[in-house]
Amino acid sequence: MSKITIFDTTLRDGEQSPGATMSTAEKLRLAHQLDKLGVDVIEAGFPVASDDDFEGVRSIVKEIRRPVIAALARAHPLDVDRAGAAVEAADKPRIHVFLATSDIHLKHKLEIGREECLERVVEGVERAKKLVDDVEFSPEDATRTDVAFLCQVVQVAVEAGATTINIPDTVGYTLPTEYRALIETLFRDVEGLEHTVVSVHCHDDLGVAVANSLAALEAGARQVECTINGIGERAGNASLEEVVMALRIRKDLTRHHTDINTTELYKASQLLSHITGIYPQPNKAIVGRNAFAHEAGIHQHGMLKERMTYEIMTPELVGAPGTQLVLGKHSGRHGLRNRYKELGYDLSDEELDQAYKLFTLVADQKKSILDEDLLVILHHGAMKDAPESFRLVELDVNCGGKWSTARVKVSHHDEPPREASAKGDGPIAAAFSAIDELIEGTVEIIDFEIVAATPGRDAIGEVNLHARIGGRTFAGRGASTDVVHAAARAYVNAINKAELAKALEGVKMEKESSLGGPT
Ligand code: KIV
Ligand code: ZN
Repeated sequence: MSKITIFDTTLRDGEQSPGATMSTAEKLRLAHQLDKLGVDVIEAGFPVASDDDFEGVRSIVKEIRRPVIAALARAHPLDVDRAGAAVEAADKPRIHVFLATSDIHLKHKLEIGREECLERVVEGVERAKKLVDDVEFSPEDATRTDVAFLCQVVQVAVEAGATTINIPDTVGYTLPTEYRALIETLFRDVEGLEHTVVSVHCHDDLGVAVANSLAALEAGARQVECTINGIGERAGNASLEEVVMALRIRKDLTRHHTDINTTELYKASQLLSHITGIYPQPNKAIVGRNAFAHEAGIHQHGMLKERMTYEIMTPELVGAPGTQLVLGKHSGRHGLRNRYKELGYDLSDEELDQAYKLFTLVADQKKSILDEDLLVILHHGAMKDAPESFRLVELDVNCGGKWSTARVKVSHHDEPPREASAKGDGPIAAAFSAIDELIEGTVEIIDFEIVAATPGRDAIGEVNLHARIGGRTFAGRGASTDVVHAAARAYVNAINKAELAKALEGVKMEKESSLGGPT
Protein backbone atom coordinates (compact mmCIF):
# COMPACT_ATOMS: atom_id res chain seq x y z
CA MET A 1 0.00 0.00 0.00
CA SER A 2 1.41 3.40 -0.96
CA LYS A 3 0.66 6.58 0.88
CA ILE A 4 -0.76 9.27 -1.40
CA THR A 5 0.20 12.83 -0.53
CA ILE A 6 -2.81 15.11 -0.47
CA PHE A 7 -1.86 18.59 -1.65
CA ASP A 8 -4.70 20.99 -1.01
CA THR A 9 -4.84 24.05 -3.23
CA THR A 10 -8.20 25.45 -2.10
CA LEU A 11 -6.49 28.59 -0.83
CA ARG A 12 -4.66 29.14 -4.11
CA ASP A 13 -6.26 27.55 -7.20
CA GLY A 14 -9.60 27.32 -5.37
CA GLU A 15 -9.49 30.98 -4.49
CA GLN A 16 -9.09 31.75 -8.20
CA SER A 17 -12.64 30.48 -8.64
CA PRO A 18 -14.94 33.35 -9.64
CA GLY A 19 -16.38 34.93 -6.47
CA ALA A 20 -14.28 32.81 -4.08
CA THR A 21 -11.93 35.54 -2.88
CA MET A 22 -11.21 35.15 0.83
CA SER A 23 -9.90 37.59 3.40
CA THR A 24 -6.78 36.70 5.40
CA ALA A 25 -8.93 35.86 8.44
CA GLU A 26 -11.09 33.55 6.33
CA LYS A 27 -8.05 31.84 4.81
CA LEU A 28 -6.68 31.26 8.26
CA ARG A 29 -9.92 29.69 9.46
CA LEU A 30 -9.96 27.37 6.49
CA ALA A 31 -6.27 26.53 6.92
CA HIS A 32 -6.96 25.42 10.51
CA GLN A 33 -9.68 23.12 9.21
CA LEU A 34 -7.35 21.74 6.51
CA ASP A 35 -4.84 21.04 9.25
CA LYS A 36 -7.48 19.13 11.24
CA LEU A 37 -8.43 17.28 8.09
CA GLY A 38 -4.84 16.04 7.88
CA VAL A 39 -3.83 17.30 4.43
CA ASP A 40 -0.10 16.85 3.80
CA VAL A 41 0.48 20.09 1.90
CA ILE A 42 -1.41 23.37 2.01
CA GLU A 43 -0.78 25.59 -0.98
CA ALA A 44 -1.43 28.82 0.86
CA GLY A 45 -1.28 31.35 -1.95
CA PHE A 46 0.57 33.13 -4.73
CA PRO A 47 2.56 35.71 -2.74
CA VAL A 48 3.68 37.92 -5.61
CA ALA A 49 0.09 38.51 -6.72
CA SER A 50 -0.66 41.08 -3.99
CA ASP A 51 0.23 42.14 -0.48
CA ASP A 52 -2.95 40.43 0.70
CA ASP A 53 -1.78 37.13 -0.79
CA PHE A 54 1.66 37.53 0.75
CA GLU A 55 0.20 38.31 4.17
CA GLY A 56 -2.28 35.44 3.81
CA VAL A 57 0.57 32.96 3.33
CA ARG A 58 2.61 34.49 6.14
CA SER A 59 -0.24 34.31 8.63
CA ILE A 60 -0.85 30.65 7.78
CA VAL A 61 2.86 29.89 8.20
CA LYS A 62 2.75 31.52 11.63
CA GLU A 63 -0.13 29.43 12.96
CA ILE A 64 -0.08 26.13 11.09
CA ARG A 65 3.01 24.07 11.76
CA ARG A 66 2.27 20.40 10.89
CA PRO A 67 1.75 20.33 7.11
CA VAL A 68 4.08 21.50 4.39
CA ILE A 69 3.16 25.07 3.45
CA ALA A 70 3.65 25.78 -0.25
CA ALA A 71 3.72 29.12 -2.03
CA LEU A 72 3.31 29.44 -5.79
CA ALA A 73 5.76 31.33 -8.00
CA ARG A 74 6.23 31.80 -11.72
CA ALA A 75 9.71 30.88 -12.94
CA HIS A 76 10.79 34.45 -12.43
CA PRO A 77 13.25 35.75 -9.82
CA LEU A 78 10.82 38.27 -8.28
CA ASP A 79 8.13 35.62 -7.83
CA VAL A 80 10.48 33.02 -6.42
CA ASP A 81 12.01 35.44 -3.91
CA ARG A 82 8.59 36.65 -2.80
CA ALA A 83 7.36 33.06 -2.36
CA GLY A 84 10.54 32.23 -0.44
CA ALA A 85 10.03 35.21 1.88
CA ALA A 86 6.41 34.26 2.51
CA VAL A 87 7.23 30.70 3.64
CA GLU A 88 10.64 31.26 5.21
CA ALA A 89 9.36 30.86 8.78
CA ALA A 90 7.51 27.60 8.04
CA ASP A 91 8.67 24.35 9.64
CA LYS A 92 8.22 22.68 6.26
CA PRO A 93 8.37 25.30 3.51
CA ARG A 94 7.90 24.52 -0.19
CA ILE A 95 8.23 26.76 -3.24
CA HIS A 96 6.08 25.69 -6.16
CA VAL A 97 7.58 27.04 -9.38
CA PHE A 98 5.64 26.87 -12.63
CA LEU A 99 6.13 27.81 -16.25
CA ALA A 100 3.95 27.14 -19.27
CA THR A 101 5.42 24.65 -21.73
CA SER A 102 2.83 24.04 -24.48
CA ASP A 103 3.49 25.68 -27.83
CA ILE A 104 0.19 27.58 -27.54
CA HIS A 105 1.31 29.18 -24.29
CA LEU A 106 4.91 29.71 -25.37
CA LYS A 107 3.84 31.45 -28.55
CA HIS A 108 0.83 33.48 -27.48
CA LYS A 109 1.30 34.10 -23.77
CA LEU A 110 5.00 34.11 -23.02
CA GLU A 111 6.25 34.87 -26.55
CA ILE A 112 9.36 32.78 -26.06
CA GLY A 113 10.78 29.69 -27.79
CA ARG A 114 11.43 26.24 -26.34
CA GLU A 115 15.11 26.94 -25.63
CA GLU A 116 14.31 29.97 -23.50
CA CYS A 117 11.60 27.99 -21.78
CA LEU A 118 14.14 25.34 -20.74
CA GLU A 119 16.52 28.03 -19.47
CA ARG A 120 13.79 29.65 -17.39
CA VAL A 121 12.81 26.33 -15.85
CA VAL A 122 16.37 25.73 -14.72
CA GLU A 123 16.80 29.28 -13.41
CA GLY A 124 13.48 29.17 -11.55
CA VAL A 125 14.09 25.83 -9.88
CA GLU A 126 17.71 26.60 -9.02
CA ARG A 127 16.77 29.95 -7.50
CA ALA A 128 14.03 28.31 -5.40
CA LYS A 129 16.45 25.57 -4.37
CA LYS A 130 18.75 28.19 -2.85
CA LEU A 131 15.89 29.25 -0.57
CA VAL A 132 14.30 25.91 0.40
CA ASP A 133 15.05 22.20 -0.01
CA ASP A 134 11.53 21.28 -1.02
CA VAL A 135 10.89 22.57 -4.55
CA GLU A 136 8.01 21.57 -6.77
CA PHE A 137 7.98 22.28 -10.48
CA SER A 138 4.91 22.39 -12.75
CA PRO A 139 5.02 22.61 -16.55
CA GLU A 140 1.77 24.51 -17.01
CA ASP A 141 -0.52 23.09 -19.73
CA ALA A 142 1.53 19.87 -19.62
CA THR A 143 -1.19 17.79 -21.25
CA ARG A 144 -1.13 19.94 -24.40
CA THR A 145 2.66 20.07 -24.49
CA ASP A 146 4.55 18.08 -27.12
CA VAL A 147 5.43 14.91 -25.20
CA ALA A 148 9.10 14.81 -26.22
CA PHE A 149 9.53 18.44 -25.17
CA LEU A 150 7.67 17.78 -21.90
CA CYS A 151 10.17 15.01 -21.14
CA GLN A 152 13.03 17.46 -21.78
CA VAL A 153 11.43 20.06 -19.49
CA VAL A 154 10.89 17.56 -16.69
CA GLN A 155 14.44 16.24 -17.15
CA VAL A 156 16.01 19.69 -16.65
CA ALA A 157 13.72 20.42 -13.70
CA VAL A 158 14.79 17.18 -12.01
CA GLU A 159 18.45 17.93 -12.68
CA ALA A 160 18.03 21.45 -11.29
CA GLY A 161 16.85 19.94 -8.01
CA ALA A 162 13.04 19.76 -8.09
CA THR A 163 11.83 17.25 -5.50
CA THR A 164 8.25 17.08 -6.77
CA ILE A 165 7.24 17.16 -10.42
CA ASN A 166 3.63 18.10 -10.99
CA ILE A 167 1.95 17.42 -14.34
CA PRO A 168 -0.98 19.84 -14.60
CA ASP A 169 -3.93 19.28 -16.88
CA THR A 170 -4.37 23.03 -16.81
CA VAL A 171 -7.33 23.26 -19.16
CA GLY A 172 -9.02 19.98 -18.24
CA TYR A 173 -8.36 18.50 -21.67
CA THR A 174 -7.00 15.02 -21.07
CA LEU A 175 -8.86 11.76 -20.44
CA PRO A 176 -7.94 8.98 -18.01
CA THR A 177 -6.26 6.55 -20.42
CA GLU A 178 -4.25 9.29 -22.10
CA TYR A 179 -3.17 10.87 -18.80
CA ARG A 180 -2.13 7.55 -17.36
CA ALA A 181 -0.06 6.84 -20.49
CA LEU A 182 1.58 10.28 -20.23
CA ILE A 183 2.73 9.61 -16.67
CA GLU A 184 4.05 6.20 -17.74
CA THR A 185 6.00 7.82 -20.59
CA LEU A 186 7.54 10.35 -18.23
CA PHE A 187 8.65 7.60 -15.83
CA ARG A 188 10.13 5.68 -18.76
CA ASP A 189 11.93 8.57 -20.49
CA VAL A 190 13.05 10.94 -17.73
CA GLU A 191 16.13 9.80 -15.91
CA GLY A 192 15.91 10.06 -12.14
CA LEU A 193 12.18 10.81 -12.08
CA GLU A 194 11.67 7.84 -9.80
CA HIS A 195 13.60 9.71 -7.09
CA THR A 196 11.08 12.56 -7.10
CA VAL A 197 7.41 12.58 -6.21
CA VAL A 198 5.25 12.77 -9.33
CA SER A 199 2.14 14.81 -8.72
CA VAL A 200 -1.09 15.34 -10.62
CA HIS A 201 -3.21 18.47 -10.90
CA CYS A 202 -6.42 18.13 -12.86
CA HIS A 203 -9.07 20.64 -13.87
CA ASP A 204 -12.63 19.54 -14.42
CA ASP A 205 -13.59 21.09 -17.76
CA LEU A 206 -14.70 17.70 -19.09
CA GLY A 207 -15.94 16.47 -15.72
CA VAL A 208 -13.17 13.87 -15.36
CA ALA A 209 -10.67 15.57 -13.03
CA VAL A 210 -11.07 12.97 -10.29
CA ALA A 211 -11.01 10.07 -12.77
CA ASN A 212 -7.84 11.49 -14.34
CA SER A 213 -6.19 11.87 -10.94
CA LEU A 214 -6.98 8.26 -10.01
CA ALA A 215 -5.73 7.00 -13.38
CA ALA A 216 -2.42 8.79 -12.88
CA LEU A 217 -1.95 7.05 -9.53
CA GLU A 218 -2.10 3.73 -11.36
CA ALA A 219 0.90 4.90 -13.38
CA GLY A 220 2.94 5.75 -10.29
CA ALA A 221 1.99 9.32 -9.37
CA ARG A 222 2.00 9.73 -5.60
CA GLN A 223 0.67 13.22 -4.95
CA VAL A 224 -2.77 14.56 -5.86
CA GLU A 225 -3.51 18.28 -6.00
CA CYS A 226 -7.13 19.01 -5.26
CA THR A 227 -9.55 21.41 -3.61
CA ILE A 228 -12.42 21.22 -1.14
CA ASN A 229 -15.75 20.98 -3.01
CA GLY A 230 -13.68 20.92 -6.23
CA ILE A 231 -13.66 24.72 -6.45
CA GLY A 232 -11.18 26.33 -8.79
CA GLU A 233 -10.72 28.09 -12.10
CA ARG A 234 -13.65 27.62 -14.54
CA ALA A 235 -15.16 24.17 -13.89
CA GLY A 236 -12.87 23.73 -10.90
CA ASN A 237 -10.19 21.29 -9.76
CA ALA A 238 -10.35 17.65 -8.74
CA SER A 239 -12.43 17.48 -5.59
CA LEU A 240 -10.43 16.49 -2.52
CA GLU A 241 -13.30 14.67 -0.83
CA GLU A 242 -13.99 12.59 -3.94
CA VAL A 243 -10.36 11.60 -4.45
CA VAL A 244 -9.91 10.73 -0.79
CA MET A 245 -13.13 8.72 -0.48
CA ALA A 246 -12.53 6.87 -3.76
CA LEU A 247 -9.16 5.78 -2.40
CA ARG A 248 -10.66 4.89 0.97
CA ILE A 249 -13.75 3.01 -0.19
CA ARG A 250 -11.98 1.21 -3.03
CA LYS A 251 -8.65 0.51 -1.35
CA ASP A 252 -9.23 -3.13 -2.32
CA LEU A 253 -8.64 -1.98 -5.90
CA THR A 254 -6.37 1.06 -5.65
CA ARG A 255 -4.11 -0.29 -2.89
CA HIS A 256 -3.39 3.26 -1.75
CA HIS A 257 -4.16 5.19 1.39
CA THR A 258 -4.10 8.79 2.60
CA ASP A 259 -3.65 10.31 6.04
CA ILE A 260 -6.92 12.24 5.76
CA ASN A 261 -9.27 12.18 8.73
CA THR A 262 -12.39 11.61 6.65
CA THR A 263 -14.75 12.58 9.47
CA GLU A 264 -13.60 16.18 8.98
CA LEU A 265 -14.55 16.29 5.28
CA TYR A 266 -18.10 17.54 5.65
CA LYS A 267 -17.02 20.24 8.08
CA ALA A 268 -14.36 21.46 5.67
CA SER A 269 -16.91 21.57 2.86
CA GLN A 270 -19.42 23.48 4.99
CA LEU A 271 -16.84 25.96 6.21
CA LEU A 272 -15.67 26.72 2.68
CA SER A 273 -19.26 27.12 1.45
CA HIS A 274 -20.13 29.51 4.23
CA ILE A 275 -16.98 31.54 3.71
CA THR A 276 -17.33 31.88 -0.06
CA GLY A 277 -21.10 31.64 -0.46
CA ILE A 278 -20.50 28.95 -3.10
CA TYR A 279 -22.38 25.77 -2.22
CA PRO A 280 -21.89 22.38 -3.85
CA GLN A 281 -24.87 21.22 -5.89
CA PRO A 282 -27.26 19.02 -3.85
CA ASN A 283 -26.24 15.85 -5.71
CA LYS A 284 -22.50 16.48 -5.28
CA ALA A 285 -20.74 13.27 -4.23
CA ILE A 286 -19.71 12.99 -0.55
CA VAL A 287 -20.70 16.48 0.66
CA GLY A 288 -23.87 17.45 -1.27
CA ARG A 289 -27.08 17.81 0.70
CA ASN A 290 -28.53 14.72 -1.00
CA ALA A 291 -25.38 12.59 -0.89
CA PHE A 292 -26.92 10.42 1.84
CA ALA A 293 -30.62 11.06 1.22
CA HIS A 294 -32.81 8.18 0.14
CA GLU A 295 -36.02 9.25 -1.50
CA ALA A 296 -37.50 6.23 -3.28
CA GLY A 297 -39.67 4.03 -1.08
CA ILE A 298 -37.91 0.89 -2.23
CA HIS A 299 -34.55 2.38 -1.24
CA GLN A 300 -35.86 3.51 2.15
CA HIS A 301 -37.21 0.04 2.77
CA GLY A 302 -33.86 -1.53 1.91
CA MET A 303 -31.98 1.01 4.05
CA LEU A 304 -34.12 0.29 7.09
CA LYS A 305 -33.31 -3.40 6.79
CA GLU A 306 -29.61 -3.03 6.01
CA ARG A 307 -27.78 0.21 5.24
CA MET A 308 -25.34 -1.50 2.90
CA THR A 309 -28.13 -2.16 0.39
CA TYR A 310 -27.89 1.40 -0.89
CA GLU A 311 -24.96 3.00 0.94
CA ILE A 312 -21.32 2.39 0.08
CA MET A 313 -20.24 4.61 2.98
CA THR A 314 -22.00 6.04 6.01
CA PRO A 315 -22.55 9.78 6.52
CA GLU A 316 -20.64 9.40 9.81
CA LEU A 317 -17.51 8.37 7.90
CA VAL A 318 -17.35 11.79 6.23
CA GLY A 319 -18.70 13.67 9.25
CA ALA A 320 -22.06 14.55 7.69
CA PRO A 321 -24.69 15.13 10.34
CA GLY A 322 -27.93 13.17 10.29
CA THR A 323 -30.95 15.41 9.74
CA GLN A 324 -32.57 14.70 13.07
CA LEU A 325 -34.38 17.51 14.83
CA VAL A 326 -32.27 18.71 17.65
CA LEU A 327 -32.96 21.84 19.62
CA GLY A 328 -35.83 24.26 20.13
CA LYS A 329 -36.85 27.49 21.79
CA HIS A 330 -36.53 26.05 25.27
CA SER A 331 -33.05 24.64 24.90
CA GLY A 332 -30.40 26.22 27.06
CA ARG A 333 -26.78 27.22 26.55
CA HIS A 334 -25.62 23.90 27.93
CA GLY A 335 -27.65 21.93 25.38
CA LEU A 336 -26.38 24.19 22.63
CA ARG A 337 -22.76 23.75 23.66
CA ASN A 338 -23.22 19.97 23.79
CA ARG A 339 -24.82 19.76 20.37
CA TYR A 340 -22.01 21.84 18.86
CA LYS A 341 -19.55 19.47 20.53
CA GLU A 342 -21.32 16.51 18.97
CA LEU A 343 -21.04 18.25 15.61
CA GLY A 344 -17.31 18.62 16.23
CA TYR A 345 -17.09 22.27 17.29
CA ASP A 346 -15.62 23.10 20.68
CA LEU A 347 -16.83 26.67 21.25
CA SER A 348 -15.08 29.14 23.50
CA ASP A 349 -17.30 30.95 26.04
CA GLU A 350 -17.31 34.03 23.85
CA GLU A 351 -18.26 32.05 20.73
CA LEU A 352 -21.00 30.29 22.66
CA ASP A 353 -22.38 33.65 23.89
CA GLN A 354 -22.65 34.93 20.34
CA ALA A 355 -24.06 31.67 19.01
CA TYR A 356 -26.63 31.53 21.79
CA LYS A 357 -27.78 35.09 21.09
CA LEU A 358 -28.41 34.19 17.45
CA PHE A 359 -29.86 30.82 18.38
CA THR A 360 -32.57 32.44 20.52
CA LEU A 361 -33.46 34.80 17.67
CA VAL A 362 -33.75 31.91 15.22
CA ALA A 363 -35.63 29.77 17.77
CA ASP A 364 -38.24 32.54 18.00
CA GLN A 365 -38.87 32.14 14.27
CA LYS A 366 -38.58 28.37 13.91
CA LYS A 367 -40.20 25.56 15.84
CA SER A 368 -37.24 23.22 15.69
CA ILE A 369 -33.64 23.90 14.96
CA LEU A 370 -31.78 21.50 12.68
CA ASP A 371 -28.08 20.77 12.69
CA GLU A 372 -27.88 22.72 9.45
CA ASP A 373 -29.37 25.77 11.21
CA LEU A 374 -26.70 25.48 13.88
CA LEU A 375 -23.98 25.50 11.24
CA VAL A 376 -25.42 28.64 9.65
CA ILE A 377 -25.59 30.31 13.07
CA LEU A 378 -22.01 29.34 13.76
CA HIS A 379 -20.57 30.50 10.48
CA HIS A 380 -22.53 33.73 10.38
CA GLY A 381 -22.50 34.77 13.97
CA ALA A 382 -20.08 33.15 16.30
CA MET A 383 -17.03 33.18 14.07
CA LYS A 384 -16.99 36.71 12.75
CA ASP A 385 -14.42 37.60 10.10
CA ALA A 386 -14.60 41.36 10.67
CA PRO A 387 -15.42 43.30 13.85
CA GLU A 388 -18.93 44.74 13.86
CA SER A 389 -18.02 48.42 13.58
CA PHE A 390 -21.51 49.03 12.19
CA ARG A 391 -24.35 47.02 13.70
CA LEU A 392 -27.87 46.70 12.41
CA VAL A 393 -30.02 47.32 15.46
CA GLU A 394 -33.50 47.47 13.92
CA LEU A 395 -35.11 47.11 10.52
CA ASP A 396 -38.76 47.57 9.54
CA VAL A 397 -40.01 47.41 5.99
CA ASN A 398 -43.27 48.13 4.32
CA CYS A 399 -43.86 46.64 0.92
CA GLY A 400 -46.54 45.55 -1.50
CA GLY A 401 -47.26 48.87 -3.24
CA LYS A 402 -45.36 50.53 -6.07
CA TRP A 403 -42.58 51.54 -3.69
CA SER A 404 -41.31 49.82 -0.57
CA THR A 405 -40.07 51.78 2.41
CA ALA A 406 -37.56 50.83 5.06
CA ARG A 407 -36.58 52.28 8.42
CA VAL A 408 -33.27 51.20 9.91
CA LYS A 409 -31.41 51.84 13.14
CA VAL A 410 -27.64 51.34 12.89
CA SER A 411 -25.02 51.82 15.59
CA HIS A 412 -21.37 52.65 14.92
CA HIS A 413 -18.88 51.46 17.57
CA ASP A 414 -20.10 52.75 20.95
CA GLU A 415 -22.04 55.71 19.57
CA PRO A 416 -25.79 55.71 20.13
CA PRO A 417 -27.71 54.17 17.20
CA ARG A 418 -28.91 56.52 14.45
CA GLU A 419 -32.05 56.09 12.41
CA ALA A 420 -32.85 56.63 8.71
CA SER A 421 -35.65 55.85 6.28
CA ALA A 422 -35.66 55.42 2.52
CA LYS A 423 -37.74 54.00 -0.27
CA GLY A 424 -36.85 51.63 -3.08
CA ASP A 425 -38.41 49.47 -5.75
CA GLY A 426 -38.43 46.53 -3.36
CA PRO A 427 -37.87 46.01 0.38
CA ILE A 428 -34.22 45.02 -0.01
CA ALA A 429 -33.39 48.05 -2.17
CA ALA A 430 -35.17 50.27 0.36
CA ALA A 431 -33.23 48.75 3.26
CA PHE A 432 -29.91 49.24 1.43
CA SER A 433 -30.75 52.89 0.68
CA ALA A 434 -31.69 53.54 4.30
CA ILE A 435 -28.38 52.05 5.47
CA ASP A 436 -26.55 54.22 2.89
CA GLU A 437 -27.93 57.30 4.67
CA LEU A 438 -26.02 56.31 7.80
CA ILE A 439 -22.60 55.47 6.41
CA GLU A 440 -19.95 57.45 4.59
CA GLY A 441 -19.09 56.60 0.99
CA THR A 442 -20.96 54.64 -1.62
CA VAL A 443 -21.66 50.95 -1.91
CA GLU A 444 -22.17 49.40 -5.33
CA ILE A 445 -23.66 45.91 -5.45
CA ILE A 446 -21.85 43.70 -7.97
CA ASP A 447 -23.71 40.46 -7.41
CA PHE A 448 -26.35 39.26 -5.05
CA GLU A 449 -27.70 35.81 -4.28
CA ILE A 450 -30.28 34.39 -1.88
CA VAL A 451 -30.16 30.69 -1.00
CA ALA A 452 -32.20 28.60 1.38
CA ALA A 453 -29.45 27.38 3.69
CA THR A 454 -31.69 24.93 5.53
CA PRO A 455 -34.69 22.87 4.42
CA GLY A 456 -38.38 23.52 5.06
CA ARG A 457 -40.88 26.39 4.92
CA ASP A 458 -39.17 28.16 7.78
CA ALA A 459 -35.74 27.77 6.18
CA ILE A 460 -32.93 30.15 7.04
CA GLY A 461 -32.29 32.36 4.04
CA GLU A 462 -28.69 33.16 3.41
CA VAL A 463 -27.64 36.18 1.36
CA ASN A 464 -24.25 36.36 -0.30
CA LEU A 465 -23.27 39.51 -2.08
CA HIS A 466 -20.23 41.26 -3.44
CA ALA A 467 -20.04 45.00 -3.12
CA ARG A 468 -17.60 47.59 -4.40
CA ILE A 469 -16.64 49.97 -1.61
CA GLY A 470 -13.81 52.50 -1.85
CA GLY A 471 -12.50 50.92 -5.07
CA ARG A 472 -12.28 47.36 -3.68
CA THR A 473 -14.61 44.39 -3.69
CA PHE A 474 -15.85 42.83 -0.46
CA ALA A 475 -18.02 39.77 0.12
CA GLY A 476 -20.90 40.23 2.53
CA ARG A 477 -22.94 37.46 4.09
CA GLY A 478 -25.99 37.43 6.28
CA ALA A 479 -28.53 34.89 7.39
CA SER A 480 -32.01 35.07 8.86
CA THR A 481 -35.40 33.43 8.50
CA ASP A 482 -36.39 36.79 6.95
CA VAL A 483 -34.53 37.38 3.68
CA VAL A 484 -34.76 41.19 3.91
CA HIS A 485 -32.99 41.02 7.27
CA ALA A 486 -30.47 38.56 5.83
CA ALA A 487 -29.78 40.96 2.95
CA ALA A 488 -29.37 43.96 5.27
CA ARG A 489 -26.95 41.96 7.44
CA ALA A 490 -24.95 40.91 4.40
CA TYR A 491 -24.79 44.55 3.30
CA VAL A 492 -23.55 45.70 6.71
CA ASN A 493 -21.09 42.77 6.81
CA ALA A 494 -19.49 43.95 3.54
CA ILE A 495 -19.32 47.52 4.91
CA ASN A 496 -17.61 46.23 8.06
CA LYS A 497 -15.06 44.37 5.99
CA ALA A 498 -14.33 47.55 4.06
CA GLU A 499 -13.86 49.37 7.39
CA LEU A 500 -11.45 46.68 8.54
CA ALA A 501 -9.52 46.80 5.25
CA LYS A 502 -9.25 50.57 5.52
CA ALA A 503 -7.80 50.21 8.98
CA LEU A 504 -5.29 47.60 7.86
CA GLU A 505 -4.39 49.23 4.58
CA GLY A 506 -0.70 48.72 3.78
CA VAL A 507 1.46 49.43 0.81
CA LYS A 508 0.05 47.78 -2.31
CA MET A 509 2.30 45.69 -4.53
CA GLU A 510 1.75 45.96 -8.24
CA LYS A 511 0.64 42.78 -9.98
CA GLU A 512 3.16 41.73 -12.56
CA SER A 513 0.68 40.82 -15.22
CA SER A 514 3.09 40.77 -18.14
CA LEU A 515 4.27 37.25 -17.27
CA GLY A 516 0.76 35.82 -17.16
CA GLY A 517 -0.95 34.34 -14.11
CA PRO A 518 -1.55 30.76 -13.10
CA THR A 519 -4.69 28.83 -13.87
O1 KIV B 1 -3.62 24.46 -13.54
C1 KIV B 1 -2.41 24.75 -13.47
O2 KIV B 1 -1.63 24.56 -14.39
C2 KIV B 1 -1.93 25.35 -12.22
C3 KIV B 1 -0.46 25.41 -12.05
C4 KIV B 1 -0.01 26.71 -11.50
C5 KIV B 1 -0.02 24.25 -11.21
O3 KIV B 1 -2.71 25.71 -11.37
ZN1 ZN C 1 -4.69 24.72 -11.70
